[in-house]
Amino acid sequence: MPVICGKFLKVFLVASVFITLSFIDVAAAEDKNPCASKNIPIRKNAIKDSVALKEMGIKLWGSTAMGTSGTACGTCHPDGAGLKKEPFPKYIKMPDDIVTMDQMINFCMVNPMKGKPLKWNSQEMTALAGYITVNAKDGATAPVNPCGMKNPCASKNPCGMK
Ligand code: HEC
Repeated sequence: MPVICGKFLKVFLVASVFITLSFIDVAAAEDKNPCASKNIPIRKNAIKDSVALKEMGIKLWGSTAMGTSGTACGTCHPDGAGLKKEPFPKYIKMPDDIVTMDQMINFCMVNPMKGKPLKWNSQEMTALAGYITVNAKDGATAPVNPCGMKNPCASKNPCGMK
């Protein structure tokens, strides 16, 4: 009798180890596959309305409240002037570097606009990227230089406005 009991115990223990291992395996596989979980939000307020996003992009493009230099994106890029169709990442002279679209948005946010860089997952970043994508043109004209300066982005206040 004790021998049978011992055997049974052994089988039980071995089986339980295997069962536990198989659960760990499944958990590990789910970790490896990010698509196994349902939704992984990138921000608190998801954007679902593309028309509203487009309107937000147009509004931000014309807003001088984005930075502190008194300029808007549209001051230098009226109707998307200077936005070239050639896809990012690409070389841009002003930063003298190859940059992504988001990096260029923040470059202009920080330098000519004298504002804070936008967060990677902000609605503003998405809205401006939308505006740029829609308004980029083949053979785009150069950005406007609102102050007639040699380098509109080198000075603290590109337009001498308050
Ligand atoms: C004071 C003028 C000025 C303001 C304001 C300005 N930019 Fe620019 N931006 C430029 C200039 C000049 C260039 C061209 C740089 C070059 O080619 O060397 C440029 C280039 C760009 C480009 C790259 C275009 C391309 O396809 O080559 C993007 C994108 C851009 N700006 C976005 C923005 C955004 C977004 C804002 C507002 C947050 C903004 N800019 C505000 C002057 C400005």
